[in-house]
Amino acid sequence: MQMIIDGKNTDAIGGQSLQVLSPNDGKAFETIPRGRKADVDLAVKAARQALSGAWGELTALERGRLMIQLGQKILENHEELAQLESRDTGKPISTSRADISALARYFEFYGGGADKVHGQTIPFLNDYAVQLVREPLGVTAHIIPWNYPAQMFGRSAAPALAMGNAIVVKPAEDACLSVLRAAELAQEIGFPPGAINIVTGLGHEAGAALSQHPDINFISFTGSNEVGVLIQQAAAVNAVKCTLELGGKSAHIVFEDANVERAIPAIVKGVVYNTGQTCTAGSRLLVQRSIFDDFMVRLAEEFSKTRAGTPDMDLTCGPVVNKDQFDRVNHYVDQGRKDGLKIVAQGTIADGVPAGGYFVTPTLFSAPDHSSCLLSDEIFGPVLVAVPFDTEAEAVALSNATSYGLMGAVWTENGGRQQRVAKGMQAGQVYINSFGAGGGIELPFGGVKRSGHGREKGFIALEEMSTTKTIINFHGE
Ligand code: NAI
Ligand code: MG
Repeated sequence: MQMIIDGKNTDAIGGQSLQVLSPNDGKAFETIPRGRKADVDLAVKAARQALSGAWGELTALERGRLMIQLGQKILENHEELAQLESRDTGKPISTSRADISALARYFEFYGGGADKVHGQTIPFLNDYAVQLVREPLGVTAHIIPWNYPAQMFGRSAAPALAMGNAIVVKPAEDACLSVLRAAELAQEIGFPPGAINIVTGLGHEAGAALSQHPDINFISFTGSNEVGVLIQQAAAVNAVKCTLELGGKSAHIVFEDANVERAIPAIVKGVVYNTGQTCTAGSRLLVQRSIFDDFMVRLAEEFSKTRAGTPDMDLTCGPVVNKDQFDRVNHYVDQGRKDGLKIVAQGTIADGVPAGGYFVTPTLFSAPDHSSCLLSDEIFGPVLVAVPFDTEAEAVALSNATSYGLMGAVWTENGGRQQRVAKGMQAGQVYINSFGAGGGIELPFGGVKRSGHGREKGFIALEEMSTTKTIINFHGE
């Protein structure tokens, strides 16, 4: 497949390409251009020109309409995009279908928002009229990961476009085909050239060149902590704003009065869905000691039903994305054994998966305390560790005992406790008696602590992706 720069499908200037491997069998099935600095320069230039050209001239209504049309076009090509996503990432086909629906929804949601972000007037001195108007940031850079390529594209790109920015996206080298195809559809329905540019390539080449480019006005990044720090440093050099979403180590807190029937499937799904490669994976489980043993028996029963298979088998989860993730997950499972954690249950890998596929076994551990690195490091795999606690205060303290702060969940029927714990948890989102419902496009999302900063999703993203201008008008005689 090719990149999209200035409305055209294009190869890398250097002529090099990268192989795309399928995690289902480890084999190459496609190539993408290996874009570098020269390609990024062209993309940023095209975006800048779009702002003062056809894209910048559109009214908010026209921008929004184009975005809603793109959402509909994505739905018309839903199955093709879902198949592509599964081949690229290894997701069970029903997961990819849900992801492509979410991609369409991002464009519909923010397309509908484009003409609904209004300014303000501010009372000031006599003989003055003051307007606060919202303006685009300019050229926005979007460096997105491989775990939800289509959704991440929608989440990052759609609010930026709604506010009238021109975008340059660097999707992940491990999985980016659905992003390329969606951007191609955008060209087909008439997005002006340069409004949406996609540069494929390696992180330290295309990604670094984009984040360091002196003519960008904003960076949105989702990915690892290490790269997040580099992004913020690059943003500092150019004095531009960035949002960072750097993953998490999200905890469930289950109290003795919890609705266990409701909690158990949500907890299993919360860590195994997408093979645990989810920033909001509920990878720590804190259970009140009075119910710990019984709860773990029932949880083990449900957990052991999880199965990993190829996309067409459409089981609980697929393979992990690449060899690095495969080694990483297996390393942590070995480390858990070495740390003396007890394996309480494991899922299975389905018979008949290809030998070269990156399939890992979902694993449920229990730990006597919170000291193992499995409870502090983001594993990004289907690995859950349960730890008992005694009091509410202890539970909240344990939930906050990581450097991350993305999401959390509290399971209790006690209303006062629901509120106290939700307030006490250091996280950008807290669920009460549920976990990660419905894609959450409407719900402001982002982290505290090392999970990053800035907010995405919801209407708040439109504020993040724009700036204000205060116009002060003296109208006295
Ligand atoms: P990564 O942070 O290296 O990759 C994310 C994106 O950043 C990709 O598009 C990549 O090309 C780009 N990138 C890499 N190096 C860059 C650089 N120097 N400058 C600019 N862009 C750069 O993540 P990776 O290595 O694929 O995964 C490692 C771990 O990171 C995972 O195991 C997981 O723990 C975490 N992660 C978290 C994600 C989340 O949703 N918060 C998503 C992906 C990874
Ligand atoms: Mg990396």
